[in-house]
Amino acid sequence: MAVTGAVLVLFLIGHMLGNLKIFLGADSFNGYAEWLRTAGEPALPGRTMLTITEIVLVVAVVLHMWSAVSLARRAARARPVKYAARRRSQASGYATHVMRYGGIVIALFVVWHLLDMTLGVVNPEGHAATPYDRMVAGFAPSRWWVTAFYVIALVMVGLHLRHGVWSAFQTLGLARGRSHRPLRALAGVVALVLVVGFLAAPVAVMIGVIK
Ligand code: HEM
Repeated sequence: MAVTGAVLVLFLIGHMLGNLKIFLGADSFNGYAEWLRTAGEPALPGRTMLTITEIVLVVAVVLHMWSAVSLARRAARARPVKYAARRRSQASGYATHVMRYGGIVIALFVVWHLLDMTLGVVNPEGHAATPYDRMVAGFAPSRWWVTAFYVIALVMVGLHLRHGVWSAFQTLGLARGRSHRPLRALAGVVALVLVVGFLAAPVAVMIGVIK
């Protein structure tokens, strides 16, 4: 879980920083999107870096979900008789719900997001438009419900990250003694920075700062 989660977090940091280029203007954003497709050319064929990224992402997502299911099964086998009383720290509590149902919302979001921004199927500008135009059309004020869905999905991503990063620290044995509190806070900061950084562009488009 921790290794595939780390791969996904690194992707999210890179993706968020790339999205923020939209604040530097259409040329900067489209130039960056073009670079993603042409990096390594002419030594390497076009889309090499993007294709490798896509393969790594698909493998990481599949293994991440597989680990989640097998860990949940192992936990259920280890404790076939349910606890009579629930405590906040138990596996059946808040964190499990956030990770399980939040994970499902995130998976649905990624499907919509790819249809919207990568394939252009559900985007008013379609696939032929530039990435900048797809962003501006996708989050237009009349499509406020799309931005609302992004906000909900990104809050889920944030909660998922906060718990996931914290769990990874524990798995690595780092969160002991005095490092407990600062690392917990760090997990919260990582999640918050990513959520705010991701939502900046859609919100800026919706309120007309980017057009
Ligand atoms: C508000 C937040 C987000 C915005 C505005 C955004 C924007 C975009 C855009 C414009 C593209 C297409 C890039 C291109 O065609 O050059 C893209 C691709 C993608 N996004 Fe996002 N994104 C956001 C959040 C996310 C999140 C949270 C995830 C994952 C949980 C994600 C996963 C992806 C993936 C997997 C791709 C396809 C990359 C590829 O083609 O290999 N995005 N995004």
